[in-house]
Amino acid sequence: MGSIEYSEPSIQPPPTRAEASLREATSVAIASGKGGTGKSFLATNLAIAAARSECRCTLVDADYGLAADHLLLGVTPRRTLQDLVEGRAPPGACVIDTPYRVRLVPGATGVTELAALGRGELAQIARGMSTWSHDADLLLIDAGAGIQSSVITTIVAADTVVLVVQPEIASLTDAYAVVKCLMRRPAPLPRFGVVVNRVLTMDVAAASFAKLAEVARRFLGISLHDLGHVSEEPAVTPRRLGQPPLVVTHPECRTALEVRRVLTRLSQLTGGLTARPVRPGEGIADRMMRQLPRPA
Ligand SMILES: Nc1ncnc2c1ncn2[C@@H]1O[C@H](COP(=O)(O)OP(=O)(O)OP(=O)(O)O)[C@@H](O)[C@H]1O
Ligand SMILES: [Mg+2]
Repeated sequence: MGSIEYSEPSIQPPPTRAEASLREATSVAIASGKGGTGKSFLATNLAIAAARSECRCTLVDADYGLAADHLLLGVTPRRTLQDLVEGRAPPGACVIDTPYRVRLVPGATGVTELAALGRGELAQIARGMSTWSHDADLLLIDAGAGIQSSVITTIVAADTVVLVVQPEIASLTDAYAVVKCLMRRPAPLPRFGVVVNRVLTMDVAAASFAKLAEVARRFLGISLHDLGHVSEEPAVTPRRLGQPPLVVTHPECRTALEVRRVLTRLSQLTGGLTARPVRPGEGIADRMMRQLPRPA
């Protein structure tokens, strides 16, 4: 890749023959609407589970301004997305290895500028998505909560959006709002999967998915795919402080098995968590660039 002063899609040269034959990772954005539903917990554990099944997984911590995946994965980044958007580092320099064979693009913490990204910054991140997905099978994007433009622009470019909800009305309502916001963006839409997290009983998990799926179908004409549930695991939070993720410390516990089942269903939904050829103009960066807010 060339200069990092890239901001306008219209001035990009057409792809070379080599670029046209590039492969890109399957891209999956983990989103929620309501904060604290377990996106980072799920994203980090899914990433490790994928890496353990020989999938080259890169996790992008796109919780702009409130990133935490580096803490969950036990690494101290030298560079973050902030260095990319501020032009201090090219995308390839912002990826780090973790002890779990997952590659991580760390986000920044407590940076208000990153929480309110504009067109130029999002264009840099789009360019990063392209770079990171060229040498991965699975690009997992841990998105921030909410429906602000930067969040929607980031997740709408993924092949698949996984909505992580909790079995409560506020969480389901906010996930519905995310789908509604995504639908206002130009086509093509990603496909949608749902994981019901922190469930106490299977009945509640099934009822939560059914309610969200029914409302999305009736009012938006959208099909949501059931990726399963993950149980409330009382020991998760105290155990997580400074310790490896759950699928590492307790690979056979029920919650870890459920996380792996989510990964299996995700693989079925996407047709395999593998890199695939992309046609010129149809890569993740192109899709994201088409969604950028118009210049003022
Ligand atoms: N299945 C679970 N059982 C018990 N605790 C959980 C479970 N999933 C997540 N948690 C806990 O819930 C809290 C919030 O999880 P997490 O940080 O992953 O949410 P998030 O959606 O990424 O939040 P944010 O919107 O702030 O980024 C954490 O303390 C996490 O350990
Ligand atoms: Mg998070």
